[in-house]
Amino acid sequence: MKVIAVANQKGGVGKTTTAVNLSASLAAKGQKVLLIDADPQANTTSSLIDKKEVSGSFYHLFDESIDSAINPSLIIHEKVRENLDLLPGHISSAKIERINSSKSLAALRRALKRTNPYNQVVIDCPPALGNIVEACLMAATHLLIPVRCDYLSLDGIEDLQDTVVSIQEFNQDLAILGVLRTFYDGRLKITESVDQSLKETFTDLVLTTCIPATVRVQEAPGYRQTLVEYAPHANATRAYRELAQEVIIRVQKTTA
Ligand SMILES: Nc1ncnc2c1ncn2[C@@H]1O[C@H](COP(=O)(O)OP(=O)(O)O)[C@@H](O)[C@H]1O
Ligand SMILES: [Mg+2]
Repeated sequence: MKVIAVANQKGGVGKTTTAVNLSASLAAKGQKVLLIDADPQANTTSSLIDKKEVSGSFYHLFDESIDSAINPSLIIHEKVRENLDLLPGHISSAKIERINSSKSLAALRRALKRTNPYNQVVIDCPPALGNIVEACLMAATHLLIPVRCDYLSLDGIEDLQDTVVSIQEFNQDLAILGVLRTFYDGRLKITESVDQSLKETFTDLVLTTCIPATVRVQEAPGYRQTLVEYAPHANATRAYRELAQEVIIRVQKTTA
């Protein structure tokens, strides 16, 4: 089972948008997908379902006072879309940051061994480098890093490299699936500079697919829809479809 963590310690770079729409695009290609919302903000969850429907959430995998080996199937919402299951997030997940044992943080890794088989598991990580991200990266086989093409990202490319190094310390077997350029606008000079710096630093880890900036992306979650549903013909929708294809190919290549 391939487990892709979508992570970057910066907020607002498109992690949640990518987790939701990559998952939906993989599912539309017939892959069985589990999407995990590890961010206490639970935006992935509210993009797909009504939060009021959530009782058990990501947090319960870690809550030893309930049952240290809670069966993930009790929490997973099956078929939130065709081929797509959701392990929802909730604000209570923030309490995971207070756990101080790495055995407890391995709860997600253990839980994934007990789920039904999926082709791909996609995890939406919070914008941090704390316990939750550590737990996600212990469970992941691949790391996907969205990078927003703006001036602040250019400024943060060294930080990003440090992030990748610290992330690999959590999990030596973790393969970098790639760096995904988001908010891409080829007409802007800044995009060219970000492109160049990313390629110098990450060379062939920079994915071919880039996600254009489109207002459609911001509108879709308000209707609790994925891009495939809300704007099937938008450029960003096509880009996420291409990303799904590129991810399938890269995952195979980077798996021994
Ligand atoms: N390609 C895009 N074009 C336009 N807006 C985008 C795009 N990707 C993300 N956004 C918007 O930017 C904001 C942050 O995106 P989000 O996916 O939540 O980032 P993160 O999870 O990294 O914090 C959201 O309002 C989202 O709708
Ligand atoms: Mg997010």
